Amino acid sequence: MLYLTDEEFKYISTYIKDNYGLNLTKKKTLIEGRLGNYVSGLGYQNYMDYFRYAMSDKAADEMVVLINKLTTNHTYFLRENEHFDFYRDTVLPWVDKTLRVRDLYVWSAGCSSGQEPYTLSMITLNYLGANAASWDSTILASDISDKVLAAAKEGLYSKEELSGLPDNWLRRYFVSRGNDKYSISDTLRNNVAFRNFNLLSPFPFKKPFHAILCRNVMIYFDTPVKNAIINKFYDALLPGGYLFIGLSESLSGCSHKFKFIKPSIYQKID
Ligand SMILES: C[S@@+](CC[C@H](N)C(=O)[O-])C[C@H]1O[C@@H](n2cnc3c(N)ncnc32)[C@H](O)[C@@H]1O
Repeated sequence: MLYLTDEEFKYISTYIKDNYGLNLTKKKTLIEGRLGNYVSGLGYQNYMDYFRYAMSDKAADEMVVLINKLTTNHTYFLRENEHFDFYRDTVLPWVDKTLRVRDLYVWSAGCSSGQEPYTLSMITLNYLGANAASWDSTILASDISDKVLAAAKEGLYSKEELSGLPDNWLRRYFVSRGNDKYSISDTLRNNVAFRNFNLLSPFPFKKPFHAILCRNVMIYFDTPVKNAIINKFYDALLPGGYLFIGLSESLSGCSHKFKFIKPSIYQKID
């Protein structure tokens, strides 16, 4: 087992917090547990030599490998389902019947391996029904990890991962690939646009979103980082648009202009 010195721990956790928002200042054991074997397997005698190598990689590929190892990508279809009920019953009718526009733009920020954006897509397509073809609906799905984005784009899931979905969704939106594996249909694939994006970067999006889901992502961030991101979400939403955070998360301690709708759901009001 390779142990982190206090100096290495301080340097590495500060660098990762400043550049990727992940607050690992109390996670020394986590870093050792997730990186130890990998770092020594590469032949390094200490973490700092490995970290210098990761920082010197101009393409930042090694830094992405490192971030992938330190973040938790756990997700599943229909996770925190009350959000999807609210999306179906409030957000979609607001866009459809109140705004009377036909271009829906929703962002799954921190999408992991795709279950969240594909769930949004299935609910949207079910809601639009036969009118879907006359809508220009896009679910933007972003994550900092190339590994999960590759899995999301591939869209191949086991029967067990899909077990919570209604049978008619399975028939409509998935294609059996044998060995209890299913891949997403082209309809779903064409509705979701994937992109690697670090939430700490300036937001480049020109078109405002009707809804943003950033669930179970900001648990890694401390209050100043969270505050900055929440305010960027506010600016990126259309007035009346909604922000969803994880059910176990809150915006307490953050200074923002969102209206509180109910725990974990907020609305931009001006
Ligand atoms: C636990 S998953 C959440 C997935 C999904 N939103 C859900 O609730 O099931 C958290 C995701 O946030 C991503 N993430 C962490 N820090 C990030 C950052 N700075 N920018 C973008 N994504 C980040 C991780 O790579 C991971 O895939």
